[in-house]
Parts: sequence; structure tokens; C-alpha cells
Amino acid sequence: MKFKQWLAPLVYLASNWISLIGVVLVTTAGILWILLIPSTMRGGHATGPYIGILQFMMLPAVFFAGLALIPLGMWWFKKRNKGRLPERFPPLDFDNPRFRRLLAFLGATTMANLVIGGSLTYKAVSYMESVNFCGQTCHVVMKPEFTAYQNSPHSRVECVSCHIGPGANWFVKSKISGSWQVISVSLNLYPRPIPTPIENLRPARETCEVCHWPQKYGGDRLRIINSFTDDERPKLTRTVLLMHIGGGNGYEGIHGAHMGPGVEVRYAHSDKQRQKIPWVEYTGKEGKKFVFKADGYKEEGPGNMDVRTMDCMDCHNRPSHTYELPERALNKAMAAGDLDLELPFVRKASLEVLKQKYATTQESEREIVRRFKAYYEKNYPELVKTKAASIDRSARAVLAVFSRNVFPEMNVNWGNYPNNIGHTDFDGCFRCHDERPSTSGGRTIPQDCETCHKMLAQDEEAPKVLTDLGLGHSWQTGLDKGK
Ligand code: HEC
Ligand code: HEC
Ligand code: HEC
Ligand code: HEC
Ligand code: HEC
Repeated sequence: MKFKQWLAPLVYLASNWISLIGVVLVTTAGILWILLIPSTMRGGHATGPYIGILQFMMLPAVFFAGLALIPLGMWWFKKRNKGRLPERFPPLDFDNPRFRRLLAFLGATTMANLVIGGSLTYKAVSYMESVNFCGQTCHVVMKPEFTAYQNSPHSRVECVSCHIGPGANWFVKSKISGSWQVISVSLNLYPRPIPTPIENLRPARETCEVCHWPQKYGGDRLRIINSFTDDERPKLTRTVLLMHIGGGNGYEGIHGAHMGPGVEVRYAHSDKQRQKIPWVEYTGKEGKKFVFKADGYKEEGPGNMDVRTMDCMDCHNRPSHTYELPERALNKAMAAGDLDLELPFVRKASLEVLKQKYATTQESEREIVRRFKAYYEKNYPELVKTKAASIDRSARAVLAVFSRNVFPEMNVNWGNYPNNIGHTDFDGCFRCHDERPSTSGGRTIPQDCETCHKMLAQDEEAPKVLTDLGLGHSWQTGLDKGK
């Protein structure tokens, strides 16, 4: 009875439009919040960080705004009806029209939310996990990663598979950083380019190894790398490497040496991008530890540098955002037949244009094509008349190479994001493999050229190994395109 007496004035005062809107907001936010629980708490499924923004930021904001509106409305109602308020408030029963109206309101809102929200939240959740949402919602911000991603072997793997992955613990972490990302994008606080390494990337054991596992790969793999000379008529040359990938359950080859059973490589890096590695500790198959120190590094241990345990991402740090240097990117485009190799000095002309600075994407789109054409107009005016179409096609191919790798708005230029897989474009393997000796003597981290690959040919026009295998023809590339 006490409770009802106490509630009666509240119900009376709350029967104004402001308070009722508050009631609707509180109910809606509350119900949607509850509806979201199953999709955010389920384990074993990758979930995007942005649902978190909905659940942990937007819905609570609506909820509390609604909660604030209710007393605000009452206060306003009381003020407006000063002196006209009844002595005794009508009791809470179904004869009380105000009480009936409030109940009807609550009932209708709840029903509507259950019906509409129930189906909408599911859609919203799946949308927020999608590649489109991650890659395109923050269009400018994520453009470099999204573009590089589309050209990668992982272009069908969702962003969240690598960046979040299953499991409640990582899920909660990603919520917080996801929310922060949205705030920093809306307020324009984010750094350009987006810094790597990403501190909160999930460990490779839980992401990459869902689809790949070290035991799966073994033996050697043939790598053929196409390049072109800078001559007037560029010539296709090939480097053929037999990569000792190794793996299996053993200790052989590249994977075995770092990822074999029981093997652990820990290293300290003195820069944020993990390019300088003065200290390495190797635990081999017998459980014995060896420490290797770079030339000139005096301290015993890692000192106050960050220490990291090596995993897939320390070599494959660009599995899906592979930015290339201009030479390599151009070689690929040329091998694919995107440029007309009969244009004199086409490689030199292209590189020159690619390496210039462009302040905006728009400028690059305009200037690259123009400058490429200008080269031929100046040096080969006759050719421009007979080969206009092919010059235009080649100019656009050069622009495409640029647009895949350079993003002026994000300050992403050639070579901003080092790729650690090799050692020719960036230090890569040679960050450690520089013949540094172990402190206990007897071993080094080897740089011997046969350690990681057998070089079957280097920049040869007709490598014997390829002709023997029947792979010597230009149809191995796209060079004959359109012929
Ligand atoms: C196959 C796994 C994988 C997929 C799929 C993937 N990423 Fe990444 N991403 C990485 C790795 C690995 C890094 C580098 C991490 C490091 O070194 O800290 C990275 C780095 C980034 C960075 C930091 C900037 C940079 O380029 O280093 C952003 C931003 C990013 N990814 C966004 C995305 C978006 C958006 C998608 C989907 C369109 C996506 N990623 C898909 C693995 C992946
Ligand atoms: C959801 C599954 C999935 C995840 C997660 C995944 N990959 Fe892959 N990865 C693939 C598939 C599928 C291919 C083969 C694509 C092809 O052949 O074109 C592939 C190819 C590769 C290749 C070979 C590329 C080449 O040029 O042949 C490497 C290296 C690789 N992945 C590394 C990684 C690393 C490192 C990670 C973790 C950051 C990772 N992958 C996460 C599915 C995945
Ligand atoms: C020490 C550096 C290093 C580490 C650590 C490493 N890889 Fe590799 N991986 C390589 C190199 C080098 C290649 C060969 C690349 C090439 O052929 O161009 C390779 C090749 C691969 C391939 C392609 C194999 C094929 O036969 O096509 C896959 C997939 C792969 N790695 C996945 C992984 C995964 C998953 C992990 C983590 C469990 C991992 N790698 C750890 C260096 C490494
Ligand atoms: C963080 C440091 C580090 C990086 C980076 C690194 N390695 Fe290693 N690697 C080592 C250590 C330490 C050993 C063990 C040396 C020993 O056995 O004493 C090793 C051993 C190897 C071996 C076996 C050598 C032998 O004598 O049998 C191969 C092959 C290898 N690494 C390949 C690679 C490749 C390929 C890359 C680049 C994709 C790479 N490593 C990057 C630290 C590194
Ligand atoms: C620690 C392992 C390791 C050692 C030691 C090593 N390489 Fe490599 N090398 C690699 C890897 C990994 C790649 C990249 C393969 C790829 O592109 O996926 C590579 C690529 C190359 C390429 C092809 C570059 C291109 O155009 O893409 C050449 C040439 C090469 N190495 C030469 C050498 C020579 C010469 C030595 C001896 C000084 C040597 N390598 C020692 C791991 C090694």
C-alpha cells in the first residue's frame, strides 16, 4: 500500500509528453540492449568491434537521456500546473486514465521493440562484422588497407578474422579499441599513416592458425620472380628460388627453425616498427637457450626494450596489406601485360612518374597520366600519332600501380610499411640474420645464401631450370595479352 501511495504522484506527474518520450527512450534502449546480448556474448565467432559502440556507447547514451527526460518532464508539468495539482493523487488502478495510458505506452513500446528490434539487431550485427563496414565506412582512413587487401591472397577473408577473431577476452578488448577508433575518426584525431604494429592484434596462434597451421606446410616451394630491365626495349628476366619452407613437425627449413615443436624465438626491438633488433634469444629443440646480440650491443639482456615472442606475423606482417616499392609493383604490372612494352624506355618513363610527389589523390590521377604522355610527346612526337591508344592504356596502368600503393591523404608513401618477408626491399630476415654470433659461441644466425633458399637463377632471360620444366615461355606471364 505504501509503495502505491508513493508511486501515485509519480504516475500522475509523469503523464506529460516529455516524460512519456523519456519512457519510450528508456524502454527502447533497454530492450535493444538485452536483444544484443546473445550476439555479443557468443563465443567461437568473430564479432566486429562496432557492435560494441552500439551496445556500450550509443544505447546507454539513449537510455540515460531518456532517464533524464522523465524527471525533467515531471518538473515542467508541476511548474505549469502550479496550484492546480490535486490534494490527493488518484490511486493506481484501472479506473485511473493516466495510469492506463502509461501502461498502454509501455506495452506498445515493448511490443514494437521486440518485433522490430528482434529482426533489425541481427541484421545490424552482421553488417557491422562485414568487410564493407570495416573497410569502407571509414573510407579515407582505411582506404590504404582496404585497397591493398583487395589485391591480396586474403581478399576473401573478413577483416575481423585477423583483427579480432573468436573468444570473449579479445572481444572485450576490441570493443574498447573499436569504440576509440570511431571517436578518433569522428574527431579527426587519428594519426596518418595509421601506425604499425598494431598492439592489440590477436596472436597469430589464434588467427592465422585457424586456417593455416605450421604443420601443414613442408618441403620446398619454387618461387619465380619476374623483373624487367630499364633498356629501350625492356627485357623480361627471371629469378628462380627454391624456398626451404620446411615445417611439418620437424625443425627443418624456415618454418621449422622458428616454429618447430618447442622452439621459441624472443627478440627485443629498439624501434616501434620492429625493424631494429639488437637482442635475440633462441630456445631450440633440446630446450637450450642461446642469446645473440647485434654488433655493438653491449648489455646482457634486453634492457628496457620491448620484448616479443616471434610468431607468423613477424615474417608475414603483410599477409593482406601488401604495399610494394615502385620497381616491384611495376614489374608485376608489366609481367601482367598491362603496359605496352614496345613503347621505348617505358619502364624508365614509368618509374620517373611514379616516384614523384603528389599532394592529393586527385592530383595524382590527373598528373600521372599527363606526365607519362608528356614524356612521349616530348621525346617521340611521331609515336604519339601512331600509338595514342597504347600510350593511354599504359599511362592508366602506371596510375593503377600508384593508386594501389600510395595514398597521399593518409600520408602513405612508397615504403612506409616495411614488408618483413624477404631482405631485398627491406631488412626483413636480415634484421636478425646478419651472422651475429651467440654469446656462448659456436653458432650464428646465418646469412649464408643457401640457408633459406637455393638460387636456381638470378635475373636470367632464359633460366635453364625453367626451360627444363617447360616453364620458360612468356605465356607464363600475361605478356601475350591481346596478341
Ligand atoms: C590475413 C589477415 C588480415 C586481414 C584479412 C586483414 N588484416 Fe589488417 N592487418 C593484418 C596484419 C598482420 C597487420 C599488421 C600488423 C602489425 O604489424 O602489427 C594489419 C594491419 C592493419 C592496419 C594498420 C595499418 C597497416 O597497414 O599496417 C589497418 C588499419 C588494418 N590492418 C585494417 C584492415 C581492414 C580494414 C581489413 C579488411 C578490409 C583488414 N585489415 C584485413 C592482417 C589482416
Ligand atoms: C579465414 C582463413 C584465413 C586466415 C584467418 C588467414 N589466412 Fe592466409 N590464406 C587463406 C587462404 C584461403 C589462402 C589461399 C589464397 C590463395 O591461394 O589465393 C591463404 C594464403 C596465405 C599465404 C600464401 C600467399 C601466397 O602468396 O601464396 C600466406 C603466406 C598466408 N595466407 C599467411 C597468413 C597469415 C600470416 C595469417 C594471419 C595473419 C593468415 N594467413 C590468416 C586463408 C586464411
Ligand atoms: C621466420 C619467418 C616465418 C615465420 C615465423 C612464418 N613464416 Fe610462413 N613463410 C615464410 C617464408 C619466407 C615463406 C616463403 C615465402 C615465399 O615462398 O615467397 C613462407 C610461406 C608460407 C606459406 C605459403 C606456403 C606455401 O607452400 O605456399 C604459408 C601459408 C605460411 N607461410 C603461413 C605461415 C603461418 C600460418 C605461420 C605461423 C604459424 C608462418 N607462416 C610463420 C616465413 C615465415
Ligand atoms: C627475430 C630474429 C629472426 C628473424 C626476423 C628471422 N630469423 Fe631465422 N633464425 C633466427 C634464429 C635465432 C635462428 C636460429 C639460429 C641457430 O640455430 O643458432 C634462425 C634460424 C633460421 C633458419 C635455420 C638456419 C639453419 O642453420 O638451419 C632459417 C632457414 C631461417 N632462420 C630463415 C629465416 C627467414 C627466411 C626469415 C625471414 C622471413 C627469418 N629467418 C627471420 C632468428 C630470426
Ligand atoms: C634468412 C633467410 C635468407 C637468407 C640467409 C638469404 N635469403 Fe634471399 N630471400 C629470402 C626470402 C624469404 C626471400 C623472399 C622470397 C619472397 O619474395 O617471397 C629472398 C629473396 C631473395 C632474392 C629475390 C629478390 C627479389 O627480387 O624479390 C634474391 C636475389 C636473394 N634472396 C638473394 C640472396 C642472397 C644473394 C643471399 C646471400 C647473401 C640471400 N638471399 C640470403 C631469405 C633469405
